[in-house]
Amino acid sequence: MLEVQNLGIRFGGNHAVQDVTASIEAGQITAIIGPNGAGKSTFFNLISGFYQPTTGRIRFLGQDITRLPTHEVVARGIARTFQTTTIYKELSVLENAMIGHRVRTRAGLWDALLRTGRERRDEEESRSGGMAALERVGLAGQAHQLAGALTQEGQKRVGIAMALSSDPKLLLLDEPAAGMNPEETVNLMALIRDLVAGGLSVALVEHKMSLVMGLADEILVLHHGQKIAEGPPNQVSRDPAVIEAYLGSHAHGGQMGQAGTEGAHA
Ligand SMILES: Nc1ncnc2c1ncn2[C@@H]1O[C@H](COP(=O)(O)OP(=O)(O)O)[C@@H](O)[C@H]1O
Ligand SMILES: [Mg+2]
Repeated sequence: MLEVQNLGIRFGGNHAVQDVTASIEAGQITAIIGPNGAGKSTFFNLISGFYQPTTGRIRFLGQDITRLPTHEVVARGIARTFQTTTIYKELSVLENAMIGHRVRTRAGLWDALLRTGRERRDEEESRSGGMAALERVGLAGQAHQLAGALTQEGQKRVGIAMALSSDPKLLLLDEPAAGMNPEETVNLMALIRDLVAGGLSVALVEHKMSLVMGLADEILVLHHGQKIAEGPPNQVSRDPAVIEAYLGSHAHGGQMGQAGTEGAHA
């Protein structure tokens, strides 16, 4: 459903993403992995229109979306969460989901927060979009609680609901399991599986190899901004270039080493 061709972006002399040609298939879970600084978040920023590429093209559902601004990318059906949680803890769970809807579908944050007359007419739409998203993440019963009163896992679900409120076809999750304990991680995996069973396509960046190996249909491996491997988990985890990349990276050498055994249990 998404194809990138020779995609690249440079920050000064640094090729954060370089010449990446890859695709994300509908109805699947695609994991993007790679050592710290590999370009994973930047790859998401390019797809979602937060950054403009210096080279290459992006096609989504057969249409070129290469230089579309974020809200138009969202309108075509791509939504994302951020690596760091960006929920409004002092607002209710439903208000968060509604802001997600407003920010993602048309207006800026201020338009979403300041309910002008023009805005009020759209409020019902945001409310129903927000509620539908909360139902999908299992938070409908907590809609009127303060977001900050939820557990860490609950707050992560709010972040996912904010992205889902625009009813995307493709959801990009940047390190969704960061800061989660093993039990919460298992719950998150079940939620992602449910969403995909319901017709959503998911691409995720994640360091936790148990999650990647247990969930992903396809894995795309980035290293120094370049694609070094792409394929199903059992193939990618045996790829010498991938093992080499992880062994060369102190921070994550152990994680990839565990991947095979963790994957076997998943
Ligand atoms: N806005 C930016 N300005 C300058 N450099 C950036 C910017 N965003 C990312 N980078 C650089 O791009 C590289 C890849 O970063 P990132 O995509 O965040 O890596 P990852 O998510 O794989 O850890 C890093 O060297 C990072 O410093
Ligand atoms: Mg990142």
